[in-house]
Amino acid sequence: MVRKLNIAVIGMGYVGITTAASLGEFGHQIIGVDIDEYKIEQLKKGGLPIYEPGVEPVIRKLLKQGALHFTTSMKEAIDGAEILFIAVGTPQFSDGRPNMSYVEDVATEIGRYMTEYRVIVDKSTVPVGTADHVKSIITVQLKLRDVNVAFDVVSNPEFLQEGKALQDARKPDRIVLGCSSSIAIDLMLKVYEIVDAPKLITSPRDAEMIKYASNGFLATKITFINELARLCDRLAVDVAEVAKGMGMDRRIGTHFLQAGIGYGGSCFPKDIAALAIMGRGVSMEMTILQSVQEVNRTQTDWFLDKVKACMGGLDGKRIALLGLAFKPDTDDIREASSLKLISGFLNEGAIINAFDPVANHKIRHIFPNINLTVCAYQAVKEADAVVICTEWKEIINLDWRKIKSLMKGDFIFDGRNVLDRTMLQMEGFQYRGVGRNLS
Ligand code: UGA
Repeated sequence: MVRKLNIAVIGMGYVGITTAASLGEFGHQIIGVDIDEYKIEQLKKGGLPIYEPGVEPVIRKLLKQGALHFTTSMKEAIDGAEILFIAVGTPQFSDGRPNMSYVEDVATEIGRYMTEYRVIVDKSTVPVGTADHVKSIITVQLKLRDVNVAFDVVSNPEFLQEGKALQDARKPDRIVLGCSSSIAIDLMLKVYEIVDAPKLITSPRDAEMIKYASNGFLATKITFINELARLCDRLAVDVAEVAKGMGMDRRIGTHFLQAGIGYGGSCFPKDIAALAIMGRGVSMEMTILQSVQEVNRTQTDWFLDKVKACMGGLDGKRIALLGLAFKPDTDDIREASSLKLISGFLNEGAIINAFDPVANHKIRHIFPNINLTVCAYQAVKEADAVVICTEWKEIINLDWRKIKSLMKGDFIFDGRNVLDRTMLQMEGFQYRGVGRNLS
């Protein structure tokens, strides 16, 4: 098979690895680059430094076909690929601003080594104006070398959900291409030629904002239903029924109306903070986003208070937390609601048993003294209450009769509103959800 384009993906994290895998599947020749030698060695052997369902077999297949290789050499990537995707991290500073130094380092290297026309693609989530910033960094480097090489910078934000990233990359709702050069647009359209999705060609600044605005809106939608859930609890209304009824209106839709113990992860918390800071940078208070942050911050406190009130205090009580990753199908625990809950329970004097199908090892680093178990049934032994933090399928499908028989108490707190309340009540549990206090 003749591979269509030579593409380098710089930064082998969640976004970079999935992007490399999907671009390889689209028929391109891929170079994956990272400065971390250990990571690159692992990838060369077909092993993944991340947990993302379905990606490993694709990487292995592409390696076997010779369609993908990995390197730590930026020069090799810049020499060998006409399109350079920047997919490095933009971690959050303590004041909420994204740390752009990795993106800047990559731009500097590109300017240092580029000898012929290249398209540089910002895939990382970056503040409005970053495409211009990257352009000026590269220009400075070219000037220092006293060379004149043409290049274009494109903003092509990712809309991948962890746990479903490959699926989202193969069948995206849209592809956004922020670009003002017709040569670069033609090349980018060739990159995504075989993908059946609407392609929106816009300016780089618009594209950068589309990414933040999408995450901001989704986080707001979740937070709306979470705050409503608190009200539903007080008024004996079932928020799940309310969401169902609202979602039937096609203008609203059912997605992202699942009430729970708050959103987490590496994207929403960071991106909402960054968007609010962008506003402040131009003397504009983003009041909705500030409220979203506040409601999300207090959602776990609200839940904890509810557990405490139902159980008449938590001191000495054994709580079994099931599901610890920030969402199912990932081992990512960044900003996971489980972390806040574990701290809260420990502060109240509770004893914690906890289980996650894949994230235990990461939790152990943060809470070395809690009792992490190898299966859910072990976690619930002698527990006074079970708390669902993450809606893994294998947790939803547990044998709840067996769980009940292993527990000391009978409380079940469903932090994601995913369990069958009627069935659990029939098994003798005292069920409490989020916004479903109907008993
Ligand atoms: C999110 C976006 O959904 C992606 O489109 C985007 O590309 C990505 O951020 C990113 O910027 O890279 P992700 O963080 O992987 O993806 O996860 P989501 O599925 O969006 O879930 C985020 C959080 O919201 C999770 O904690 C989840 O439990 C929570 N959530 C989601 C709810 O509480 N209720 C819902 O109805 C949906």
